[in-house]
Amino acid sequence: MLKEKAKAITEKALEAIQQASDSKSLYEVKVNFLGKQGEFSKLMKETGKLPKEDRPAFGKEVNLLKKNIEEAYLAKELDLANVELALRLKTEKIDLTLPGVYRAVGRQHPLTLVIREIVDILSHIGFSVRTGPMIEEDWYNFEALNIPKDHPARDMQDTFYMDDTHVLRTHTSPIQIHTMENEKPPLRVLAPGSVFRCDSDVTHSPNFYQIEGLCVDKKVSMADLKGTISYFVNAFFGQDLKTRFRPSFFPFTEPSAEVDCSCPICKGKGCRVCSNTGWVEIGGCGLVNPKVLVHAKINAAERSDDDYQGYAFGFGIERMAMIKYGIDDIRRFNENDMRFLAQFKR
Ligand code: PHE
Repeated sequence: MLKEKAKAITEKALEAIQQASDSKSLYEVKVNFLGKQGEFSKLMKETGKLPKEDRPAFGKEVNLLKKNIEEAYLAKELDLANVELALRLKTEKIDLTLPGVYRAVGRQHPLTLVIREIVDILSHIGFSVRTGPMIEEDWYNFEALNIPKDHPARDMQDTFYMDDTHVLRTHTSPIQIHTMENEKPPLRVLAPGSVFRCDSDVTHSPNFYQIEGLCVDKKVSMADLKGTISYFVNAFFGQDLKTRFRPSFFPFTEPSAEVDCSCPICKGKGCRVCSNTGWVEIGGCGLVNPKVLVHAKINAAERSDDDYQGYAFGFGIERMAMIKYGIDDIRRFNENDMRFLAQFKR
């Protein structure tokens, strides 16, 4: 009786295996027949009905049947896997002409590029970089640079005051004083950095960049300053440009000059960038005022033949970038528009 039942179950199982149309339903068949709650487990619970001496033979028989089912199952499983693979290969085509996953590559901001290029060029003639704080004491931003309180030059630089004695630095010149306080001449330093003035339009931003140059040594003259700036302008803008020095005034230099170079866009013929003058202004410069050298304790208050001299210059980074690349609005630098920023590389 039980033997027949076992055979019937086996036939049903083999049939179900053949019928299974995918690996999921095939697995269900296995669970239903060979699983813990499956048909065979139920059948085995009935073995008590058999006479004791028949039980081992029945057990053997059942194991054999189960093995047949197992084999059929494995064969079918392989079949189905092949069928399913063939189907996937047919339906899931990879289009190799589709664009790949795009990852934007970062690059340096045009202002960073300009700063690094200036530092590169001037490092060849002995200049190295110094930095200073953006919040300055009145002494470093003004007083030590020979800009006393109530001096009209303070109004020239629309200052952001933090409190009575601290300002957001209006220029990089205070780094001249820090450097001279901390190091002994001969000095050749460059100080790039962020500066702040209460001023805003297409060519002025309340926060912009400058780069300061300072040389302190014995027998430094205006000729050294002009030579250095001409070398720099030719390296930065191009060999064929001229530099021009116009007399000017800064409290911390004497004599002082404004530096122009012939317009790199039109090569001096006159265009929109240079307002048809053929010249563009890039910054201020001059010989370091002897009073500044005394304030910074480079020279003693009493003059002597052994005194140091120096020259200094300060260029506007945005201005240089605008001139070099023909950019007409200073606000472009802070808009973070990738279409603009992605155009610049060295
Ligand atoms: N600090 C001046 C400015 O911001 C520029 C300058 C620097 C002039 C060094 C002379 C020497 O306008």
